[in-house]
Amino acid sequence: MKLPPAPLPDPPPARALIAARAALLAIERATRAITPPELALWEMLFGVARTELVTLAAKLDLTDRLGDRARFAHELAAPCEVQADTLFRAMRAMAAIGLYSLRDDGRFENNAVSRTLSKSAPRSMRDAALYFGSDSNLAAWRSFGATVKTGESAFEATHGVSVWQWFDAHPDELATFARAMGRATALEAPMLAKLYPFEDFRDFCDVGGGSGTLASEVLLRHPHLRCVLSDAPRVLEEAKVLLEARGVLSRVTLAPGSFFDDVHAGCELYTMKNILHDWDDARSKKILGIVRRAMKPGARLVLFEGLLDRHDRRPEATLSDLQMIVACNGRERSIDEFRALLEASGFRLGRVFEGAVNCAIEGIAL
Ligand SMILES: C[S@@+](CC[C@H](N)C(=O)[O-])C[C@H]1O[C@@H](n2cnc3c(N)ncnc32)[C@H](O)[C@@H]1O
Repeated sequence: MKLPPAPLPDPPPARALIAARAALLAIERATRAITPPELALWEMLFGVARTELVTLAAKLDLTDRLGDRARFAHELAAPCEVQADTLFRAMRAMAAIGLYSLRDDGRFENNAVSRTLSKSAPRSMRDAALYFGSDSNLAAWRSFGATVKTGESAFEATHGVSVWQWFDAHPDELATFARAMGRATALEAPMLAKLYPFEDFRDFCDVGGGSGTLASEVLLRHPHLRCVLSDAPRVLEEAKVLLEARGVLSRVTLAPGSFFDDVHAGCELYTMKNILHDWDDARSKKILGIVRRAMKPGARLVLFEGLLDRHDRRPEATLSDLQMIVACNGRERSIDEFRALLEASGFRLGRVFEGAVNCAIEGIAL
């Protein structure tokens, strides 16, 4: 992923994004209220077809093949090495659900949504599409019924190993996942870098920091800061390239290893973005305990996580919660659940800063 050696543009204020999301949700509810219930259910049943269509578009690189031109499906079929009539039918359905536009002359063209699947889009969603539609993820979802019975990860039940062990054995899938996470984090990094007062610290350790997207944005916005970036060795190889390209590598110590073994000790601040939602409570406490061991009393931990209340009605947040149990036995949590995890692991809950997607939840080491 290419990110500039300068801070990313400032995001709109979190409050504006939260208000826009609430307005969209109200419109969705109003639409649902006037949709015949059978039709509403019928549309739900096609969820798998929607995922497959988006993933197919990403795999065939339809967006980049279209570029700025309008083209007939049969013109794309040969370079994609697919059957022309079936591609036409697939693209017609893609256009019907809002991915690509179908013109009156029968040619297809990109729209704002399909452009996010371009390899070169600054905020490309292509890797997310490839990850969500990967055989391993979809096969895990097929075991969701078993997960509801056992409460255990569908991925592990299906594949016999955890998603992280799977990634160790499938480096291509790991790279796709790491890029997808990096891109998602790039969307949010400017917001998170401003959400929490990083200026109050001299150094921070980003635990499970992935490709270094958040760390590099924080470092670019706070030139006095140094960082320790920890993750699996293969992930840090990718991170090194990004940190170098953004001109901050000299201010970063790479610390490969597992957060179940050890975490670099002595930083003033520890950050963990979207780590605990990957794990159940027992393992979350274990990770927090190991991080706590690395911290001096009074040092700060900040968890960048989405908050999910018991009666939350946001589709993306509640579905994300399910993706977590399917993929890795994780869960999205409420602030009370984070408080309980922190208090069981040698912290007290500090300040909570509300963000548009993830919030900053501060833990103070006791
Ligand atoms: C959901 S991703 C979040 C990555 C990054 N914090 C971000 O938000 O972009 C979870 C990260 O945890 C890392 N991870 C998983 N198990 C780990 C372990 N045992 N030790 C260290 N890192 C681990 C993964 O490699 C991955 O980068």
